[in-house]
Amino acid sequence: MSAWVDIRFLFESTCLNWASVPVPATSVIGLQWGDEAKGKIVDLLTEKHDIVVRYQGGNNAGHTVKFDGRTYKLSLLPTGVLQSHVKSVIAPGVVVNPLALLKELDGLAAGGHDCSSRLMVSDRAHVICPWHLLEEAALEKSRGREAIGTTGRGIGTCYREKVGRTHAIRIGDLIVPEVFASKVRQIVPFKQKVLSALDPECPVMDAEQIIAEYSAAADRIRPMVADTTTYLLDALEQNKWILFEGAQGSLLDVDHGTFPYVTSSNSSGCGIHSGSGIPERSIVKMIGVAKAYTTRVGGGPFPSELDNEIGNRIRIAGNEFGTVTGRPRRCGWFDAVATRYSARISGVDSITIALLDVLSGFDEVCICEAYDINGRITRDLPSRCEDLAAARPVLRKVPGWKEDISGITEFSKLPPTAQQYCRTIEEIVGRPVEFVSVGPDRAQTIHMAPRS
Ligand code: GDP
Ligand code: IMO
Ligand code: MG
Repeated sequence: MSAWVDIRFLFESTCLNWASVPVPATSVIGLQWGDEAKGKIVDLLTEKHDIVVRYQGGNNAGHTVKFDGRTYKLSLLPTGVLQSHVKSVIAPGVVVNPLALLKELDGLAAGGHDCSSRLMVSDRAHVICPWHLLEEAALEKSRGREAIGTTGRGIGTCYREKVGRTHAIRIGDLIVPEVFASKVRQIVPFKQKVLSALDPECPVMDAEQIIAEYSAAADRIRPMVADTTTYLLDALEQNKWILFEGAQGSLLDVDHGTFPYVTSSNSSGCGIHSGSGIPERSIVKMIGVAKAYTTRVGGGPFPSELDNEIGNRIRIAGNEFGTVTGRPRRCGWFDAVATRYSARISGVDSITIALLDVLSGFDEVCICEAYDINGRITRDLPSRCEDLAAARPVLRKVPGWKEDISGITEFSKLPPTAQQYCRTIEEIVGRPVEFVSVGPDRAQTIHMAPRS
C-alpha cells in the first residue's frame, strides 16, 4: 500500500464520518479558473458548521446556491449568510466595496433573509473606492487585445494599493469619520492626476461626494465590524466548526496561477492562512471542487478549450454565462494537468466533480491528460503563460453516456461509463472523489461512501 493510499484511508475513516468525528476547520476551494460550483458545495456543508469565512477576493466572485426551489447569487457575502445558525465572516484578506456589500445585504433582506446581524466584517479588510474602479478600467483599456478581462470591480487596483500601503484605506479607517474623510481628501487629488494621465477622458472625482456616500454606508456597516482574527482564533479554541469558502479558482491565484491572467489574491488553498489569520495547521480538511469539464472567463491561455460546436453545446447545457458579468464562459474538456497541479499545490484531501450531468449525451468525452509543448510532452503546468499558450492538449478519449443523470443520488446507479469517467479523473488527478454533483440543487448530489 503506497503512502498516498495510507493517508487516504486515514481521512476516509476519520474526516468523512461527519457525524462522529469533529472536523473543526474545513475549506472548499476551486481547482480550475473559477465557477466550479464552490457555492453549492459550501452551502451543502454549511449545515454542519458554526462559522463560514470568506478570506480573499471580493465582489468579483459569484456563487450560486439552489434549494427549496429558490436560487441565490452571492458575491461578496459568505454563503453561510443563508443559514440562520451560522455566523458569517469577511476576513482581513478580502477587499470590500461597502456599497456593493450593502446592496447585496439589502437584496437578501428584500427576499426575506435579513442577515446583517449574523455578519462580521474585519476591521483589517481593505476598502474598494471609486478610484480603484476607474483605474482598473483605464489599465484594461490600455492593454487592448491583451486585456486581462477583469470583472471591473476594482479588485486588482485595491490589492495593489494595499501592498503599496501609501494610499490604502481599511475598514477600520472607514468607520472613523474624521480618519476616512482626511484620507479621501489626501488621496483623491493624487489619484485624479494619475487617472487623467492614464486616460484624458477619465471622469472627475468629487472627494466630498465620495466622503458623503461612503460615510452613510459606514454608518450601516459599523455594527458589523470586528476583529475577526481574534474571533476565529477563539472559535477554534472552543472547537467551533469553521468552514472556509474559497473564491475564484487555484489557476487564478496571483502567485501560482496562469499569471498575468489571474486575479490579485491567493485563490488557491495557499491564501486561507494569510487571508484569515488562523494557523495553517488548524485546517484539517481541504476539499477541491472541479467541474467535469473546464471553463474560463476573461483572457489567458486555455489548452483544452473547445472553440467549436462541442464547446457551444457545453456552454448551453451548463448555462455557462458569468454570474457577475454575464459574459459567456469559454468551455473545454476536463484539464487533468491543470487540476492535478491545483490539487497538489493546495494539498487537497478530496475532490468534488461538479456539473457531471452537463456531459450527458456525448458518444465520447475527453480528458486532457498531458500537454504537448512544441513536441515536448509534459504532465506539469508550465509557469510561463507563453508555454501554456503553445500547449496542445493530449486527450484521453473515454466512452460517454446518454442517460439523464440529474436525479441520481448514488454513485453505483450512475451509468457505468459515467462512473468510469469519474474514476479516470480520480486516477489522473491523484485524489479521491468525495462528492459528485449532478444538478444545481442541494439534493442533486452524490456523497461517495468511504472505500476500504
Ligand atoms: P462558484 O463560483 O464556484 O460558486 O460557481 P458559480 O455559481 O459561479 O457557477 C456554477 C453554476 O453551476 C451555477 O449556476 C450553479 O447553480 C450551477 N451548478 C452547480 N452544480 C451544478 C451541477 O452539478 N449541475 C448543473 N447543471 N449545474 C450546477
Ligand atoms: P468565483 O468565485 C471566474 C477572473 C476574471 C478575470 C480574472 C481577473 O465566482 O469562482 P478580477 O476582477 O478578479 O481582477 O479578474 O479573474 N475571475 C473569475 N472567473 N470566477 C470567479 O469567481 C472570478 N473572479 C475573477 O474573469 O479573468
Ligand atoms: Mg462563480
